[in-house]
Amino acid sequence: MSNLDVEQRVVVLTGAGVSADSGHPTFRGAGGLWEGRRVEELATPAAWAREPALVWRFYQERRQRLVETEPNPAHEALYELEQRLKAAGVGFCLITQNVDNLHGRAGSAPIHIHGELAVLRCEVCGEKVRDLEHLDPEAFVPCPECGHAAMRPDVVWFGEMPYRVEDVFRQVGNATHFLAAGTSGVVYPAAGLLQLARDGGAKTYVNSLDEPENLSRQDEFSPGRAAEILPGLCAAIAEEVGA
Ligand code: APR
Repeated sequence: MSNLDVEQRVVVLTGAGVSADSGHPTFRGAGGLWEGRRVEELATPAAWAREPALVWRFYQERRQRLVETEPNPAHEALYELEQRLKAAGVGFCLITQNVDNLHGRAGSAPIHIHGELAVLRCEVCGEKVRDLEHLDPEAFVPCPECGHAAMRPDVVWFGEMPYRVEDVFRQVGNATHFLAAGTSGVVYPAAGLLQLARDGGAKTYVNSLDEPENLSRQDEFSPGRAAEILPGLCAAIAEEVGA
C-alpha cells in the first residue's frame, strides 16, 4: 500500500521562533529578561496576585507589539499549506504555543494552546473580550460584564493548564505528518507532542534555529529561520501527501 492510500493528516505545532522574524522576541533567547526580571517569574498567577501593575505593564507592552508587527513568510506558508491540503481533501490542523495574533492575520485559525494576548479574561465572571483598543500600560481594563476592576490577559501562565489539551493530543496522535517549527521543546505538554506524533507513526519534520531539546534522529531537521525554511518545507510536505 502506498502512503497515498491511507487518509493523510498534517499537523503543525509552532512556537516563538515562527514569530521571531516578525520582531517578537523568543522566550529563551536574549536571556529572557524584561526590566531585569525573568519572564518565567512574571508569567505566573502568583506574580499577577502580588504585583498586578508590573505584570499588566509587561503584557501591555506585548499587546502593543501586536499592532506594530506583521505576519512573515512562515505564517503565510502555513496558511498556503492549509489551503493546498484542504483543496486536496487532506486533513490539516495548526496548533500554536504563540500568544500573538500573527497566524490569524495570515488567514489561519490555529488552536492557541497558550491563549491569546489579544483576548482579556475576567477572573471573577469568566467574561472574555477581544481587545486591542486599551493599550495604556498604566490603566487596567475593567470587565464590561461584571465591572471587576482589572481583566487579565487570556494567556496560560506557568502552573496553569494549556487549553484544549485533549483535542490537541487526539489531533497529533492521528497525524500522518507532523511539523514542529520554532519551538525549543522544553515546555510541556507541548514539547511531548513530537514524541506523540512519532509514536503514532507520523513522519516528523522539525525547523528551528538551534537544535530543540526533544529532537530525535528520526526527525527530518531543517535548521534555519522559519521565514526562510517554511515556504520550501511546506511545499515539500504538500507534495509528500499528494496535495
Ligand atoms: N526561525 C526558526 N526558529 C527560531 C527562530 C527563527 N527565526 N528564532 C529562534 N528560533 C528557535 C530557537 O532556536 C528555539 O528553538 O525557536 C525556539 C524558541 O524557543 P522558546 O523561546 O523556548 O519558545 P517556545 O518553544 O515557543 O516556548 C514555549 O514557553 O515561555 C513559554 O508559554 C511560553 O509558549 C511559550 C513556551
